[in-house]
Amino acid sequence: MRIAIGNDHSAVELKNIIKEHLESRGFEVLNLGTDGPESCDYPMYGEKVGRAVVTGEADLGIAICGTGLGISLAANKVRGVRACVCSEPYTARLSRQHNNANVLCFGARVVGSELAKMIVDEWLDAEFAGGRHQRRVDMIMAIEEKDA
Ligand code: RB5
Repeated sequence: MRIAIGNDHSAVELKNIIKEHLESRGFEVLNLGTDGPESCDYPMYGEKVGRAVVTGEADLGIAICGTGLGISLAANKVRGVRACVCSEPYTARLSRQHNNANVLCFGARVVGSELAKMIVDEWLDAEFAGGRHQRRVDMIMAIEEKDA
């Protein structure tokens, strides 16, 4: 499975830790983030991760900025993306089981690296439950189609 990962300047260190963690678990990682400390604009990276997922270049995406908020808002503007900000593992698991999130976001200024790894693991190990949740996810996607 290939995971696209993107980040702004606030999350370079955490991105590298998560990238290494994913690789140690056998995932292929597509690094779409900035790798330097220079201030940059998170919308660009949220969009890159979102596009990689909806085009099939990656199976899932992880996007990290200072809070996880800005980059998730940007990723969610790409049609087909369901990006969720998760600051703890329970929400991360439910974001896949119930919401079929295809992009996980969190904040490098909010969560420490060990917690971030737990969030990522819980998210990747969960599966979409379907059933009534499929209907609700379809309703979310239908809102997007109304505005297309
Ligand atoms: C950058 O300073 C910061 O605004 C960004 O990383 C993110 O937290 C925005 O939502």
